[in-house]
Amino acid sequence: LDNGLMRTPPMGWLAWERFRCNTDCDNDPENCISERLFMDMADRLAEDGWKELGYQYVNIDDCWAAKERDSEGRLVADPIRFPSGIKALAEYVHAKGLKLGIYGDLGTYTCGGYPGTTLDQIELDAHTFASWGVDMLKLDGCYSNSSTKALGYPLMSKALNATGRPIAFSCSWPAYEGGLPPVVNYTLLGEICNLWRNYADIDDSWESVRGIVNWYSRHQDVLQPVAGPGKWNDPDMLIIGNFGLSYEQSKSQMALWAILAAPLFMSNDLRAITLKEASILQNKLLIRISQDPLGVQGQMLLKGKNNIEVWMRQLSSSTMALAFFSQRTDMPYHYTTSLGQLNITAPQLFSMQDVYSGWVLHQLEIDTEFTVTINPSGVVMLFVYPEMQIVQDWDKRRPEF
Ligand code: GLA
Repeated sequence: LDNGLMRTPPMGWLAWERFRCNTDCDNDPENCISERLFMDMADRLAEDGWKELGYQYVNIDDCWAAKERDSEGRLVADPIRFPSGIKALAEYVHAKGLKLGIYGDLGTYTCGGYPGTTLDQIELDAHTFASWGVDMLKLDGCYSNSSTKALGYPLMSKALNATGRPIAFSCSWPAYEGGLPPVVNYTLLGEICNLWRNYADIDDSWESVRGIVNWYSRHQDVLQPVAGPGKWNDPDMLIIGNFGLSYEQSKSQMALWAILAAPLFMSNDLRAITLKEASILQNKLLIRISQDPLGVQGQMLLKGKNNIEVWMRQLSSSTMALAFFSQRTDMPYHYTTSLGQLNITAPQLFSMQDVYSGWVLHQLEIDTEFTVTINPSGVVMLFVYPEMQIVQDWDKRRPEF
């Protein structure tokens, strides 16, 4: 969507995977869906170094609304759990230099059973969100059919634009239609949405992450070309910092999401995250790869019988990211290759840095073999950049002196 927003994949935090529809503030006041939860997360994003790295959205998901609209038909927040209201929450978040996202559903109810947005309510709800100072809308698609969605998503895009407030638009539409053409029209989605969910919801397990990654690689010929600045495929939230992923698997999710030019919305408890987990999510080189200004989505180059997948994302200034991802379950695997063997033809002379360990290898040529050791369900990610030719020329001449 050409609204000037999200020219690189958006980064931030989203409540759903970690906090779901927990509305029990009596027994679980710290973790229930309430203004306190979002204020806590805004505090953490602003104070623990996240914001400076680009994590700027604090996003509400389902179960924020009161069970009924108000007397004028407007959506309202649950008065017990959001006593100050969404407008005040937006002000709080903005004062921290962050942005606020909210959730709606094109249909009679949200997936969690709260009031949805029917076709006749689209303009009113867009106006309500804008009047609250909301910066992003995730529009889900429970409780409506395909023809309603085909009308409603373009209408909401228009209605958000008409408010005059820049509001990024996340569309769950394709996920409800199987995620593939000809049913899904990605050209249209790119015109009306900033990002879109293509596939199943993520859960707190490696099985879930693997299922998603395998779906994206299986359909990459369709999905890779449709992404770009302002329009991103969304493989769903980062679950690093929760309970389902090992350290290796956490590094894999982060690396693959960066290769996929995916939105980086963490759904975790930033009040309880360990340094080790945070260091994955805060890896500067990885974020630089994710946020590359060219905005070209990467893809899987090959998958061997050895169950090692090689992924590559083309980046600006003749650089690239390579990820060696193991779907093995036995032991660390030594993988030897060269850029030439991966059918990569440039740069002729390059250096590369291991994104996680920081190790650098200098002065490799296109056919220089190198070896990476990839742990089971883990990844080795390399940032590849051209070596200045002049260094080589100088080196070559030196023997003459
Ligand atoms: C759907 C969406 C999820 C989440 C829930 C909320 O399942 O795909 O991301 O928003 O609804 O009920």
